[in-house]
Amino acid sequence: SPRCKKIACIGAGYVGGPTMAMVALKCPDIEVVVVDINEVRIKAWNSEELPIYEPGLDDVVKAARGRNLFFSSDVKRHVGEADIVFVSVNTPTKTRGVGAGKAADLAYWEGAARMIASVSKTSKIVVEKSTVPVKTAEAIEKVLRRNCSDPAVQFEILSNPEFLAEGTAIEDLERPDRVLIGGKETPSGRSAVEVLKSVYEHWVPAERILTANLWSAELSKLTANAFLAQRISSINSISALCEATGADVGQVAHSIGTDSRIGGKFLNASVGFGGSCFQKDILNLVYICETLGLKQVADYWASVVSINDYQKQRFVERVIEAMFNTISGKKITVLGFAFKKDTGDTRETPALDVCQGLLQDNARLYIYDPKVTENQIHADLATPKFEWDHPGSRTPSRKQDSIKVLQDPYEAAQDSHALCVLTEWDEFKKYDYERIYDSMMKPAFVFDGRNILDHERLRKIGFIVYALGKPLDPFIQKPYS
Ligand code: NAI
Repeated sequence: SPRCKKIACIGAGYVGGPTMAMVALKCPDIEVVVVDINEVRIKAWNSEELPIYEPGLDDVVKAARGRNLFFSSDVKRHVGEADIVFVSVNTPTKTRGVGAGKAADLAYWEGAARMIASVSKTSKIVVEKSTVPVKTAEAIEKVLRRNCSDPAVQFEILSNPEFLAEGTAIEDLERPDRVLIGGKETPSGRSAVEVLKSVYEHWVPAERILTANLWSAELSKLTANAFLAQRISSINSISALCEATGADVGQVAHSIGTDSRIGGKFLNASVGFGGSCFQKDILNLVYICETLGLKQVADYWASVVSINDYQKQRFVERVIEAMFNTISGKKITVLGFAFKKDTGDTRETPALDVCQGLLQDNARLYIYDPKVTENQIHADLATPKFEWDHPGSRTPSRKQDSIKVLQDPYEAAQDSHALCVLTEWDEFKKYDYERIYDSMMKPAFVFDGRNILDHERLRKIGFIVYALGKPLDPFIQKPYS
């Protein structure tokens, strides 16, 4: 059967970079080139300071880079030479036009497909690595077919969605629960699936490589993200109920999680999910359902996103209410800005909405995150959220001077009225909270949006603690509840 000698991957982002580094590490017989139109990003991939932070990534890149792993901005040459072309470009939510706020913007994808067609002198397997709407392969195939001048060149399209999670990408790539490959049920489709399978079989046990038809594979990725996000919204909705009743969401999650049909993972109540994928992919699923006339299905999944927005809003309201209904001019320390621990990624981070909410009420924010840069935080907070979301609610940041980004958590907490934990970084558990308490204004509040701190200990020190979905401190309880 045909073998793969050279792989090109279009898009050197959070997915393309780590995924291809692992393929190169495990397949020394294959040349792997990651290409991107963003030259700054390519330069960084070739430097000592990689463009993304991901535990274990440095070692994998160092082991393979220059051997059979390359990063290049010579997109055309490497795509032209490749047997397999992975497309791992961004597929953000459309910001304007038909489907704005929901549909996936496939402009980058189509651009990549046109480029592939124009440079191809040999037949290629084109792999959808990006998360795309179901039936994208059909559109891509048309673009490829109609734009390639050489009739001898054949394109076979596969769907190979990526299930890695940021923060654990290297582990996820090294030992994936499964690899999914979707292809056409034709002889050439099946043989393309075999070629891609042979790449993964360098390190993934054969029984973990699943095959499916193209549409099932495409839809599986959207469904996986919808289910994962749904678990978070489900437990978060219960966290509100816990606060109203005196139940403890941690105990509820544990009790239901021991049921093997439910399982214990992804049941932590939090200030909300974030990241570049969950919301975008659900909105995309909703849009597809609406387009196909499946209104009830669309509404069902849309509610996962509304509960997430509700949870962030609820958190902000708790902070304001607890602090005597005014945070105007008060210094609030924000611990964590990344959308989850072990990443520097802030795309769709819940911290952004919470910070914006606190700023609306004129708080002064002192922000500390172990991995997110000062520039990134300022840029995020200065970017208005899309208009369709909450029209008019978000004016581009008017007072940059009410936002300070600190490099030291103790400095960030000095003279502040409250700590808000918005990312579950491990180091937050290890701080000297006596020292922090002594340096703060009194009463000193902690709002734990990730339920990671030792709340009993904090209360003993003297803090007034709000933890999501836990019995409320008498001090925090609303007077009428
Ligand atoms: P990203 O934005 O980090 O990277 C995409 C890269 O593609 C950018 O560097 C951009 O310059 C490049 N690009 C765009 N058009 C190009 C073109 N025509 N030629 C060459 N380069 C081009 O995006 P990320 O996070 O890597 O996501 C990529 C896809 O993977 C998305 O569809 C996403 O939904 C999906 N995905 C993301 C996961 C994540 O954890 N970030 C996990 C699983 C899937």
